[in-house]
Amino acid sequence: MVELARVYIVGAGPGDPDLLTVKAQRVLAAAEVVMVADSLVPPGILASLRPDAEVIPTARRTLEEFLPLMVERVRQGKIVVRLHSGDPSLYSAIHEQIEALEQAGVPFQVIPGISAFQAAAATLARELTIPNLVQTIILTRISGRTDVPPQEELASLAAHRATLCLYLSARHVQTAQEQLLAHYPEETPVAVCFRLGWPQERIWLVPLKAMAETTATQRLVRTTLYLISPALGARGERSQLYHPHHNHLFRPPQE
Ligand SMILES: C[S@@+](CC[C@H](N)C(=O)[O-])C[C@H]1O[C@@H](n2cnc3c(N)ncnc32)[C@H](O)[C@@H]1O
Repeated sequence: MVELARVYIVGAGPGDPDLLTVKAQRVLAAAEVVMVADSLVPPGILASLRPDAEVIPTARRTLEEFLPLMVERVRQGKIVVRLHSGDPSLYSAIHEQIEALEQAGVPFQVIPGISAFQAAAATLARELTIPNLVQTIILTRISGRTDVPPQEELASLAAHRATLCLYLSARHVQTAQEQLLAHYPEETPVAVCFRLGWPQERIWLVPLKAMAETTATQRLVRTTLYLISPALGARGERSQLYHPHHNHLFRPPQE
């Protein structure tokens, strides 16, 4: 049961309402106020709100404008949902919201969501960690209006040749491609994923050398995730986990 007046910071997942967690669905169904990051959360996610729920879009507001509304509604005894796309721990600017709520003494709870990279892997039906090929996933973005610390520049992360999930980078994709090509082979598979889970979802599987051109041809500037990974082209690799020659605690050697 959701009955406490507080702010629930909820991850909405990539856009498909069926990918909301059960907890997120419960909280949304109980919400009296929903403050939604509307530039990234499609309207379908709000389909099962209470008819009397107050919906406050925040894309055009500053934190200074919407935070007082949040605090005021909770102090009125209301259940407030702050709805972010994907998982709120990634590129959601919840850090400053949490600090402000703590300062105001307003109770809150964070409810995770499925991030865009997980939705992409599921839609592509691919594992992103393949034994002997790639065992690390990097979630990152390129420097744009928000700077990435120098030690995390794309060119240095590319040296790992890990599965690289590139957020927030469509506007700078040419630079991203050049930096990635410093280390990844030009034929490395890339999934260019537009609006995963939205009615307009499209995915293009291209070699790295065509990542920027595909983006430009399709005029992608927003809500685009790039998965750059040798795993997308993997064939014939096998993990030890279920291998008949591999024993472990739960599958000891047969006498
Ligand atoms: C502000 S960040 C939010 C990320 C979000 N918290 C998450 O975990 O997916 C927005 C960026 O996430 C990626 N993204 C979020 N939702 C997406 C979707 N449905 N399809 C493709 N990319 C998405 C894009 O790279 C977009 O530019």
